Amino acid sequence: MTTRRTARTNSPRVGLYPGSFDPPTNGHLDIIRRATRVVNTLIVGVAINAGKDPLFSIEERVAIVKQEIASINAGLASKVEVRSFEGLLMHYAREVRASVIIRGLRAVTDFDYEFQMTGMNARLDPSIETVFLMASESHQFISSRLVKEVGALGGDIRPFVSPNVAKHLQKRLAERAKKAKRR
Ligand code: PNS
Repeated sequence: MTTRRTARTNSPRVGLYPGSFDPPTNGHLDIIRRATRVVNTLIVGVAINAGKDPLFSIEERVAIVKQEIASINAGLASKVEVRSFEGLLMHYAREVRASVIIRGLRAVTDFDYEFQMTGMNARLDPSIETVFLMASESHQFISSRLVKEVGALGGDIRPFVSPNVAKHLQKRLAERAKKAKRR
């Protein structure tokens, strides 16, 4: 069996795909699937992001991303690991020996945020490149934030997330609604 290696370092290319994944959408899965074609190992880094008040805990998000990856396993071109991380992305990237940060890019509205983040990250560690994969046409408008909003307001989220994520999301949103009623 042959292993694809980078020309420059002759070592396997490790990519890090960071995000909140609260919850993972079909857009995230599409990026994961495509990113495995450009790296030898893909680490999906689920950010603890305490400040963001996520709907799912870090343990839940890691478990859900793992379930999603297990379900698309046959469509993956290289190994995928799912891990949580805390603190600076570039410190974590160095820790896991990633040479590439992968980010998905949807509409032009993503650009400003991604541009700033990439610029800062490049200053922090110029040896690690950020590579953008354009969201596929059918996923251009999907975001975790909007999926949660649509779900909370009783809209159909099935076109945007897997049946597994839809189940987790509906359960959590129902729990939240019940809690809010009791207050
Ligand atoms: O999916 P998201 O919420 O857009 O992901 C954002 C994420 C997790 C990639 C970003 O918040 C991040 O890198 N957090 C780690 C902290 C960090 O390094 N901050 C400085 C960025 S320049």
